Parts: sequence; C-alpha cells; structure tokens
Amino acid sequence: FSLEARKIQRNPSYAAIMPDDIHYFKEILGEKNVIQDEDKLSAANMDWMQKYKGSSQLLLQPRNTEEVSQILKYCNSRKLAVVPQGGNTGLVGGSVPVFDEVIINLSSMNNTISFDEVSGILVCEAGCILENLDNFLANQGFMMPIDLGAKGSCQIGGNVSTNAGGIHFVRYGSLHGNILGLEVVLPNGTVLDMLGALRKDNTGYDLKHLFIGSEGTLGIITKVSILTPPRLSSTNVAFLACTDFIYCQKLLQEARRTLGEVLSAFEFLDSHCMNMVLTHLDGVRNPLPPSVSNFYVLIETTASDELYNKEKLEAFLMRSMEGGLISNGVVAQDLSQASSFWHIREGITEAVAKAGAIYKYDLSLPVEQLYNIVEEMRRKLGQSAKVLGYGHLGDGNLHMNISTPKYDDTVLAEIEPFVYEWTSKHRGSISAEHGLGLMKANKIHYSKSRESVQLMVAIKKQMDPNGIMNPYKVLPYSMLYE
Ligand code: FAD
Ligand code: MLT
Ligand code: ZN
Repeated sequence: FSLEARKIQRNPSYAAIMPDDIHYFKEILGEKNVIQDEDKLSAANMDWMQKYKGSSQLLLQPRNTEEVSQILKYCNSRKLAVVPQGGNTGLVGGSVPVFDEVIINLSSMNNTISFDEVSGILVCEAGCILENLDNFLANQGFMMPIDLGAKGSCQIGGNVSTNAGGIHFVRYGSLHGNILGLEVVLPNGTVLDMLGALRKDNTGYDLKHLFIGSEGTLGIITKVSILTPPRLSSTNVAFLACTDFIYCQKLLQEARRTLGEVLSAFEFLDSHCMNMVLTHLDGVRNPLPPSVSNFYVLIETTASDELYNKEKLEAFLMRSMEGGLISNGVVAQDLSQASSFWHIREGITEAVAKAGAIYKYDLSLPVEQLYNIVEEMRRKLGQSAKVLGYGHLGDGNLHMNISTPKYDDTVLAEIEPFVYEWTSKHRGSISAEHGLGLMKANKIHYSKSRESVQLMVAIKKQMDPNGIMNPYKVLPYSMLYE
C-alpha cells in the first residue's frame, strides 16, 4: 500500500474505540447505523484506486445534522479521530482512514431541501449524489454547474470538500463561485449555519470558503446551497484529432475567441490514453479512422438556440480544418454518439485503474508548458512505465498518469520529487482539482509559501485543537504531529 502511509506513525494522543463508545453511538444513531460488519468496513477502508487502505473498526451513518453534531462532540471529548466520507471516489487518499479513525459516512443525508426556480438556487443535504441532483434539476429546466466522471457515486459534500473541478469548469467556474452557503458541523459539535442563499453578501469574512477544498480537515459539511444554471436545449459534441500539441493550444485559443459564450467543455487526451481505453474498456471504439493522431480534443458547445449553436461550431471547425489545426474530426449526430465520445475521455480513469498500478498527478500549468512534463517523464522512465497525458485543457489542468503493472518504489523514486520540482519551477500547482489528501500532505510547500502553510496550520489548530478531523491529510505531518 501507499508509501505515504508507510512513512507515518499513528498519533498516540488519539484514543482507541472502547465498548462504551459503541454503546453510546448505538444509543444516538440506532443499532443499524453503527456498522462493524467486516465486509462493509473493508469497502469503506479502501479507496477507489485500491491504493490507500485503513484499518477502521467503525463506520457511522448519521441521518441528520443533529446526529453529526452529537458524534463529533463525543469524538472530540474522547479524542477519537474521524474521517468524513462521501462517495469515496477521491483520488488522493483523503477519504479513507490511515489507521483506525472512525469513518463518518454521509450517504444517509441525501434529501433535497428546496429549489427556487427564479434564482436557480438549490439547497440540499451533503450526501446527495451529484447525478441525482442533476436529474432532479433536469425536471426543473436547470443543471448542476459541476459535472465529472464519478457523478454516479460522488456526493455534493465530497465535491465541495475537494473543491472538485470537472468538465464544465471552463464554462461555469469554481465551486468557490457557485456555492452560496454551507451548513457545517465543527469538531466540537457546534453547528455553523452559513446556509445563505444570496448572490451578494459582503458581511465580514466569508467563512464558507474555508470549508470549500479543506477535505474534511476543519469540519463536516452537512448542507449545501448552490447556484445552478439553466439547462440549455442545444448541446453539440465534437471529437477532433490534432497531430501536435501546439495545434491543441492554438485550437483552444481559437475556441475561446470564436466559440466564446457557447463553449462548455474543452478536454484533451493523447494517443496513449486512447490505446489504454481501447485495450481496457469494453465496447469502446475510436470514432476517427486510424492515423497518426497524437492528440484528441473533445469540444462541447451549449446554447439555447440550436441553429446558432450549430452554425458557430461548424464555422469554427471549418476554419480550424483549413488552418491545419485539426487533421480530422467528427460531430456527434445524436445523444448516444455524444455519450460515446465522452466515454472515451471519462473512461481513462477506469482504464488506467484496470491496467495495474497508477501514479496520478493532477497539475495546473501554463498551457504552453503543459505537455512538456509528459514528454520529459516519458524520456526519463523509458520502457519501465506508460506515461499518459489528458485533462481539462481549457482550464490549464493536466492529468499525468503513470501506469506500471505493479507498484514499484524505484519507479516512484524516478517520478518524485521530479514532478513536484518541475511543477514548482514553472509556477504551477501540484493539485489543480483533486486535493492533497494523504498523498500530497507533505508536498504542499511545492505550491504554497512557508507563511501560507503556517497560517493554515494555525487555523487548523484553532478550529480543531484535538486534531480529530481527518488526520494526516492536507497539512504536513511534521507541523501538526511532531
Ligand atoms: P470522498 O472521496 O468520499 O471524499 C473526498 C474528501 O472530502 C475526503 O477528504 C473526505 O474526508 C472529504 N469529505 C467528503 N464528504 C465530506 C463532507 N460532507 N464534509 C466534509 N468532508 C467531506 N475530481 C475532480 O475534481 N474533477 C474530475 O473531473 C474528477 N473526475 C473523477 C472521475 C472518476 C472516475 C473518479 C473515480 C474520481 C474523479 N474525481 C474528479 C475525484 C473525485 O470524484 C472528486 O474529488 C469528488 O469531488 C469526491 O467526492 P466524494 O463524495 O466521492 O468524496
Ligand atoms: C478526470 O478529469 O478524468 C478526473 O479528474 C479523474 C482523473 O484524473 O483520472
Ligand atoms: Zn479531472
């Protein structure tokens, strides 16, 4: 299992679970929401990639904010460490225990509370699954401002806690902009009501932002108020081939300039990703004829007027073809073809997971530098690993995945710290959208100044003096535990 976990020790100041604790939890949550069953625990102890594994003996499933508050108040007084868990689709080892932390799973808190069809503001519980929320909104003529491959399992509380990005970030922006309010339970059990549903509110420090992207280290998000955009009636998806990365960059520049307001996704993948998907996922085929395409770009446009949308995309494609930016391309003729294009892009995560061991890097870089690191890494690793590049090119977000048949510390030593040093040198971010979790808690200084990290540690200590919330994650071990 993960190298990060092998390097750290359980903090001895945390208590271990005793029979009295189980008794207390059963009293407040009811017998069936206090889970000690081996099979359920082993699923909740293991992350999506099967790379991070804890050894928790207890999984709690609160049904409302009051129960979350009672759990945290009790755990804080007993110094029992906890891990908040949503859909457990996180990719940095943040959603599972490192040792025996109590898992608090939000799945039972999955009610929508209100929807205002004039403002588009949705209020719901944190355990709502993203796709269910989007389906609910579809009936009202609206959509979630965030969409990602794990939508069928991830929860809005998990999305907010990781400040997830996804495929529509290029159009609708960050959750820091779309989240209007939160209800959060602090480690001592205090319920912090910040569940505003206002677009504008400049009264003092905007505390909700502390919880957006803090990966469960400051409190548990129990309710969310989110601004949702209207669902526009016309969507087009084009799957395009480029022979060189420079053409992908030029295509993005052109798309921003000429597609402008209709552009809703701009994603890329290299031919190594395409091969991976064709090899490991059933029923996938390349919609373009085999050629020397080194890169593929998936562009989505969305508008309220079908003709306008179509004409804009066609003119853009025509110009890009004439200008030699794309060597080939196809526009989806129906929903099923559009979803087959998306399946290629979104299926990469699953295909790489099936291929064996994965070393995942989620970098923000200036677009013109973005693919250089993939090429350098390929040169460095030679035949010992497959290096794949894909991601949200429209946001300057590269996913570099390195795939080997088995985890191998010598391969890891070739990759790290090189990848972090390279990113830091180019003033990039070592976590664009997945968070730091356990994987990068000790790497935060590659992207943040010493003074910023010190302030984060001071905030953590102030809000969670016993350090019970999601220990060993996000902040350096040495600054919190030594
Ligand atoms: P979990 O994995 O359960 O938890 C993630 C973190 O949030 C943990 O630190 C956990 O402690 C904390 N947490 C969870 N719920 C709460 C809560 N209610 N209160 C406080 N803390 C909480 N991410 C992207 O950004 N963009 C993508 O495009 C994307 N695509 C993905 C595709 C696939 C196939 C997969 C498997 C993952 C993808 N991810 C992506 C990563 C992941 O889906 C997101 O990070 C997602 O937001 C996690 O939500 P979750 O409910 O599964 O949270
Ligand atoms: C994606 O964009 O596909 C996700 O962030 C998941 C991944 O990085 O594999
Ligand atoms: Zn992504």
